[in-house]
Amino acid sequence: MSTRTLIRGGLVVTAADETHADVLVEDGRIAALAAHGSQDWSADRVVDATHKYVIPGGVDAHTHMQMPFGGTYASDTFETGTRAAAWGGTTTIVDFAIQTKGRALREGLDAWHAKADGQCAIDYGFHMILSDVNDGSLKEMDLLVEEGISSFKLFTAYPDVFYSDDGQILRAMQQAAGNGGLIMTHAENGIAIDVLVQQALSRGESDPRYHGEVRKALLEAEATHRVIKLAQVAGAPVYVVHVSAREAVAELARARDEGLPVFGETCPQYLFLSTDNLAEPDFEGAKYVCSTPLRPKEHQDFLWRGLRTNDLQVVSTDHCPFCFVGQKELGRGDFSKIPNGMPGVENRMDLLHQAVVDGHITRRRWIEIACAAPARMFGLYGQKGTIAPGADADIVIYDPNAQQTLSAETHHMNVDYSPYEGKRITGRVETVLSRGELVIDQREFTGRAGHGAYVPRGISQYVG
Ligand code: URP
Ligand code: ZN
Ligand code: ZN
Ligand code: ZN
Repeated sequence: MSTRTLIRGGLVVTAADETHADVLVEDGRIAALAAHGSQDWSADRVVDATHKYVIPGGVDAHTHMQMPFGGTYASDTFETGTRAAAWGGTTTIVDFAIQTKGRALREGLDAWHAKADGQCAIDYGFHMILSDVNDGSLKEMDLLVEEGISSFKLFTAYPDVFYSDDGQILRAMQQAAGNGGLIMTHAENGIAIDVLVQQALSRGESDPRYHGEVRKALLEAEATHRVIKLAQVAGAPVYVVHVSAREAVAELARARDEGLPVFGETCPQYLFLSTDNLAEPDFEGAKYVCSTPLRPKEHQDFLWRGLRTNDLQVVSTDHCPFCFVGQKELGRGDFSKIPNGMPGVENRMDLLHQAVVDGHITRRRWIEIACAAPARMFGLYGQKGTIAPGADADIVIYDPNAQQTLSAETHHMNVDYSPYEGKRITGRVETVLSRGELVIDQREFTGRAGHGAYVPRGISQYVG
């Protein structure tokens, strides 16, 4: 028997439109939209959205659930992390499966499927991290693109872990140019950074704030420039993840002005936090250690501007949480041993709504950078990222007037601190549907592990 849900009386906001409309959901999909009150649709369930926004579920294209990293594991599992995502109005994540050096891509992908299968509260897809570019893994890329893993992350950072040299990156880009895959890059000059790390430690500079000092903005800009040029030589598009430095935004903007298919993502931590947080005393700065690092506050204006001018297209979280106790503490006395990463999957939609309230972006731009653009960039648009007939009924009822205070006491991520502790937010998720099922119902979790389905992706709709 089919279930019909009617969402009535809200302001439907997509990247393209804002209309007072009623939304009819049937069999997990959006069946129809009509001007509010113009149809008398019958339904098994009516959700009253009066004075609320009705928005597409968020698409977070950059998460690392239970990722092995820095000698430990990211503290959110697929179960806890996707539940927290649902609480925050995100209904799709794209996580990173990892190729182990010397092993096949397939083996890494199978391992990530095994971790996520039956665990997720919301839908999920995978990118693949290439840690070992060789003839075999290049060939495997073609097969992965065909089965829905259409994007690959390469690192100019983390020597001895995920690092690829320029020749390897070029080869992967050439392969992607042929198979429609999208190369994502973590752009920082990791070789130079490691020299600066050793020099800092030998001077006795061991506090978390030195993490920000050695990972210089210029070395982010240099690597950004380099991957853009490699992509141009390969005739491939490139998507630069977690852009934090104004100098890197400038590299992207220049390339886009030349008409190159170059794209950029930033994250809430770079928009709302800064090196002031990294400098917090008593090792508290470790909570804010991630790479690329937080930058001095002045950089934030350039990131906001990039989001407005479309030199940056996507805001993802790079959700990679480590508890302060027992995990971040691994780096007491040596900042280079602090596991890199921050929590955020639950906070992204709210922080970006606050940016609407603060006047940084418009309401429709909020939906563009958090839902529509990530869906388009990663081959999900139409199914995800919008409210239109035929799309999955991944829908958030958002109360734009509710007040909340972000805190580890009340969040649902499995991590013992909030980087945004005490921050006041106007706006809050009230109800969330994932493929037509209520997963958050008036601020109660009604979802379940295993409802979330694996979503194979098409090729990027940004690059044709
Ligand atoms: O610090 C970070 N970003 N940790 C996650 C891994 C990565 O580089 O994205
Ligand atoms: Zn109305
Ligand atoms: Zn990265
Ligand atoms: Zn990441």
